[in-house]
Amino acid sequence: MAKSKLRADQFVLPHHSDNQANAWSESASKYGNEFLDPFRDSVVNPLLTMLAEIGAEDSAKMTVADLGCGTGPLLPVLIEQFGEVIALDFAAEMLVQCRERIGAEKSAKVQFLNRAMHELDDLADKLDVAVSVNSLVMPDLRVVHKTLKNIFAALRPGGRFLGVVPSVDAIHHHSLMLWDAYLDQGYSMEESERLVSTHMEHHMYNFAFGKFRFGQLDQKFWQPDELKYHLVKSGFTEIRIVRLEYPWDDSLAGYKLLKNHPKTWDWTFEARRPSA
Ligand SMILES: C[S@@+](CC[C@H](N)C(=O)[O-])C[C@H]1O[C@@H](n2cnc3c(N)ncnc32)[C@H](O)[C@@H]1O
Repeated sequence: MAKSKLRADQFVLPHHSDNQANAWSESASKYGNEFLDPFRDSVVNPLLTMLAEIGAEDSAKMTVADLGCGTGPLLPVLIEQFGEVIALDFAAEMLVQCRERIGAEKSAKVQFLNRAMHELDDLADKLDVAVSVNSLVMPDLRVVHKTLKNIFAALRPGGRFLGVVPSVDAIHHHSLMLWDAYLDQGYSMEESERLVSTHMEHHMYNFAFGKFRFGQLDQKFWQPDELKYHLVKSGFTEIRIVRLEYPWDDSLAGYKLLKNHPKTWDWTFEARRPSA
């Protein structure tokens, strides 16, 4: 059988007017109701510790970019800490929500860029810190790689890349914990498996490739070793990956049954462009 093989350079890069950007724009006004918030009060977020470790004195002279900033939950922290702040998102409506969240005075201190995350040529060697919170989610690995390489090039030598990625292994863990909890409640094997699949929305996942489809939104979820592999492939060093654990609260399926089970998580990471 003849192999159907597109040339490697024929993949389509994201753009601020493409379907995915429009789908994210459409989700902007209801974002808080539909997505887990890694900055909510009950969560101990290692990303905030990583940012604090940079030190106030140093960061006051630094430029930071929040790549895929969404509605801007991290922006108040970045504005407080860093000298210059860039907020980038390819979904125009996300930037509208961002400005609303932080208000006119703080918005005036931020450079807003409505573009895709790989479009960083004009920022080459300019960023001290790049942040990506649940925005490195492009389902095509070639787009991920192009994006990571361009983030690497946008950082100054020695610059840091910090972020959070959605975890696919945690979806598996959460499902297994819920399965056990239903069996403990006396459900049959068949019924417990059906309940887990329904409540965990397994039909929206492609577990083999770590993909998740929510409405029109296509997202990549990550295994930690896979994330490390792609960061190394893109040139990053000094990679640290740690769990961002979520308490069992009403944003998580079956939380009432899971209070005493090990928590679920996303992955927080830190990486560096090597010093010259
Ligand atoms: C899950 S949301 C996270 C938003 C925000 N960082 C937060 O923590 O709430 C993902 C965001 O990344 C943006 N995004 C996804 N792919 C992008 C790309 N290729 N270029 C620019 N923004 C992108 C989406 O528009 C969306 O605002």
